[in-house]
Amino acid sequence: MTQHQTADITQAVLDRLTPETDPRFREIITAVVRHAHALVREVDLKPDEWMAAIQFLTKVGQTCDAKRQEFILLSDTLGLSMLVVQLDQARRSKAALADKTASVRPTEATVQGPFYWEGAPSLPLGSDIGEGMPGEPAYYSGRITDTHGKPIADCCLDVWSGDGEGVYDMQMDGEVGMRLRGRFHTDSEGAYRFWSIKPFYYPVPADGPVGDMLRAMGRHPNRPGHIHMMVYRDGYVPVTTHLFAADSPYLDSDAVFGVRDSLIVPYERHEKGTRAPDGRAPDRPWHAAKYDFVLAPA
Ligand code: BEZ
Ligand code: FE
Repeated sequence: MTQHQTADITQAVLDRLTPETDPRFREIITAVVRHAHALVREVDLKPDEWMAAIQFLTKVGQTCDAKRQEFILLSDTLGLSMLVVQLDQARRSKAALADKTASVRPTEATVQGPFYWEGAPSLPLGSDIGEGMPGEPAYYSGRITDTHGKPIADCCLDVWSGDGEGVYDMQMDGEVGMRLRGRFHTDSEGAYRFWSIKPFYYPVPADGPVGDMLRAMGRHPNRPGHIHMMVYRDGYVPVTTHLFAADSPYLDSDAVFGVRDSLIVPYERHEKGTRAPDGRAPDRPWHAAKYDFVLAPA
C-alpha cells in the first residue's frame, strides 16, 4: 500500500482519475479537489469544524422540498449564482460585445431566483397584472431592440414579481394560482407596455440554514424592490433580468448580489387622477417606469 503524506494527498486523489473520465468532468472535479484541499490547508480546518460544515450542508438538503430550494439560495447568497450568470452572458454575447458597429450593449442579465413559474398567461399589451394586489400601480413601457437599435417585433417579455409588500404568489397562503405574472409580446415597433405594481424590497427565506449563515456573517437577507423579466425571441440570446426601483433600500447590499447599475430605473410618481400614456387615470397615486431592453443576436 502506498502511504500518502499530507503534502501529496491532493495529487493522490487526482491520480485516481481514469483516462475514460469525461474531459469536462475531469476539469471540474480536478478544480473541486484542488480548491477544497487548499481551503482546508489555508484555514487549518479542525475536525469539529468539518463536522459542523457537513451538518450545515445536510440541513441545507433537508430544507429543500417542492417549493423551497435551499441549495440555490446558498449559491445565490454566496454570489455563485450571479458569477455563473455573468460568465454565461459574457460567453454568449461575446460577438455582440466585440461588435464595433453596435450602438447599444445587450441588457445585463441577473439571477433568475426561485419564483419563476413557466406558462404565465399571454396577455394583450397594456394589460394590468397587478389589479387587486397590494401595492401602488405602475405603468411599464419601452422598446426591445437588437444591438444596432433595430426593433424586435413579437419579442416575448415574460414578467413576474412579488406584490407591493414583497410577497410572491407562490408564498401566499392557500393555492392562489398565478398572480403578478404575464407574457407580453412587442408590437411591430418593438414596443411593450403593461401595468403592474411598484415592487417593494423583501427578504429571501431566512428561517433555514442559509438564514443562520447570513446571521453568522452579520448580513441582512433583503433584496431591493425589483420586477423580474425574461426576454426572448428566436434568433437572439435570451436574457433573464430584473428592473430595480431607484428609490429602494438595499440597492447597495442586495442579499444575492444581483444589482447592476444599468438595471436601476426611476419610478416617476404621478398623483391619482393623472392620465397615463394609455389614457388610464388610476384612482390612486401611480408610477411610470420606462426601460428599453436590448438583445444580442444568437
Ligand atoms: C428573487 O428575486 O425572487 C430571489 C432571488 C434569489 C433568492 C431568493 C429570491
Ligand atoms: Fe424577486
